[in-house]
Amino acid sequence: MTNIITIKKPTDCHIHLRDDAYLKRTVADAAAQFNTIVVMPNLTPPIAAIEDALSYRQRILNAVPATDKLNPLLNLYLHKGTTATLVKDVANTPYILGFKLYPRGATTNSDAGIDDISQFYNIFAAMEKHNVPLMIHAEDNSPTTDIFDRECFFIDKHITKLHKAFPELKITLEHITTKEAVEFINESPANLAATITAHHLWINRNDVINTKIKPHNFCLPIAKRKEHQQALIDAATSGNSKFFLGTDSAPHTQEDKETACGCAGIYTAKNAIELYAEIFDNKGALSQLEGFASINGPHFYNFSPANDTIEITKRQQKIEDKLEFGASIVVPFKSNEQINWSLAS
Ligand code: DOR
Ligand code: ZN
Repeated sequence: MTNIITIKKPTDCHIHLRDDAYLKRTVADAAAQFNTIVVMPNLTPPIAAIEDALSYRQRILNAVPATDKLNPLLNLYLHKGTTATLVKDVANTPYILGFKLYPRGATTNSDAGIDDISQFYNIFAAMEKHNVPLMIHAEDNSPTTDIFDRECFFIDKHITKLHKAFPELKITLEHITTKEAVEFINESPANLAATITAHHLWINRNDVINTKIKPHNFCLPIAKRKEHQQALIDAATSGNSKFFLGTDSAPHTQEDKETACGCAGIYTAKNAIELYAEIFDNKGALSQLEGFASINGPHFYNFSPANDTIEITKRQQKIEDKLEFGASIVVPFKSNEQINWSLAS
């Protein structure tokens, strides 16, 4: 039985840090876990210009504790003002990885997102030409679409068409939640990949709504049936390099979650690699963890995996019940619960 593993320090290909006073919490947690992080641009206002991304990056770096280091990469928010020239400039700007596509209204801070994908074909053409990747929140949020069908509908309606029109465009389906998404990626060529969160490996929809409602397990895309959870576990642990770690760790204050109209997002950044390790261990697939967590993402986006390593040990830890978050509190995923793996300090 393996009780301790050493892996290259992981890369989180999808994380939300928020800004200003919140960076103290989110950046310190990310820096303890990750070598490189891909930071989402859904701030208010969105990070849509290179200068804004680079100054946000500097604020992130300023929040890295002296004992740690961290390489943040930024995504720009695709919106109606995005131009083909900007795409070309992104291709030539270090630390900016690509663009994030949010369907308008699909999730937190997506009001500036896009309504009609077909209007952006000149931008996708530039992205394909300059090898700039497109990260997609793949949910069709038309008012008539059931919340549990949003991912499948989006893939059927848009991704297949997009891939056909731009066969060389690098596309990442972010935080996939369905067996259909897994199958789609498995059947697609190497320029289509997917991130998988820790929480979608741990929970299914019964953990969100059951005889009780659990606001801290509510995120978007919402967790699906157990069979989908199982498909995600199989994909993450399979060794297929098109699946890689993206936590989608998204902090929201306790007040914003525990209310009549609570917002979507699960905070896993502080214990992410341990949460993944337990899933891989349960599946007898710890040998696949390093590929999934530390190599496949950097390889897909053409940057170097970490030289540093971390040790993860099979030692129980109790997840803290609450974490300081600016002047408020964030309740982490599995608050107050025991998990079986810990990050060696
Ligand atoms: O649950 C989510 N929260 N899903 C997302 O896609 C966005 C995120 C956030 O920004 O809070
Ligand atoms: Zn996200």
